[in-house]
Amino acid sequence: MSTSKPPKAPVDAATSDRSDVAGHYARSGLIDAIETGIVQMGKTLDTITIDDLAQVDEFHIGGRTATEELIEQLGVTSDDHVLDVGCGLGGPARFVAQRFKCRVSGIDLTSDYVETGNRLCNWVGLGDSVELRRSSALSMPFQDRMFDAAYMIHVGMNIDDKESLCVEVSRVLRPGSRFAIYDVMRTAEGELTYPVPWATTPASSSVAAAERYKQSLQRAGFEILSERNRRDFGLAYFNDLRSRAPAATAPAPLGLHTLMGERRPHQIKNMLESISSGTIAPVELIARKVD
Ligand SMILES: C[S@@+](CC[C@H](N)C(=O)[O-])C[C@H]1O[C@@H](n2cnc3c(N)ncnc32)[C@H](O)[C@@H]1O
Repeated sequence: MSTSKPPKAPVDAATSDRSDVAGHYARSGLIDAIETGIVQMGKTLDTITIDDLAQVDEFHIGGRTATEELIEQLGVTSDDHVLDVGCGLGGPARFVAQRFKCRVSGIDLTSDYVETGNRLCNWVGLGDSVELRRSSALSMPFQDRMFDAAYMIHVGMNIDDKESLCVEVSRVLRPGSRFAIYDVMRTAEGELTYPVPWATTPASSSVAAAERYKQSLQRAGFEILSERNRRDFGLAYFNDLRSRAPAATAPAPLGLHTLMGERRPHQIKNMLESISSGTIAPVELIARKVD
């Protein structure tokens, strides 16, 4: 019997150099944890809806509300094919597909999320309209100009090379399409305390100011349509979560704790301190690929 190890599956350079990022998000047993939560909710795989899953699969400040308020600025129609850059478990992708009756393709570095996310699509009957694939945002497995709109939610904090990111998104968008970004961005000088939800140490954190995003977008052929600081919205979201927590005797069946585990309170606390002090904030940018 041969003792040599099987060859590793090929991965592109941009993917392999961010194994620290995928390692931060990796979570084995996720599908079982979600299924357990569904049973605790009194639901089954036949009755679960995207709204039930939103507690666990919208992994960003403001949850589903933030997604709705971002996506409504994209002008999506049922004829569109929409790209989700860094889709995670695919909560926003399923929401967009169901709301606008359109196709959505998502890519993400973290295998556990992509595999679990595709199962969730099948559970809610969206397996034909939403497809999630494992890929780096810097080298996506799509042809030029094949998408009519794109969005990226809480992903750029892990991507240092924002120029290449914007060039790659521009490549796959047809001219005139919109690209919506909703990321945690730097709003003032100051150290961040780690861990935060997107990084355990500074080595995998690439938080940047909106100006840096805008320059990268413009160099990649986008015009900036709008910018919106969501600090107050974000703080209100966490205040609301906190005000509901004391009444609960046990964690909700499904929530970001299902995804983030025991690290969650510490990560959220550090992030909220930096948002409160004004060092960082969730910010939206809407851009349009120039014709
Ligand atoms: C905070 S989660 C947000 C997930 C999803 N956008 C959402 O809002 O629910 C960040 C995601 O970005 C992905 N990510 C980070 N860097 C990436 C890269 N270079 N290419 C693709 N995905 C990336 C991570 O794997 C993770 O799933």
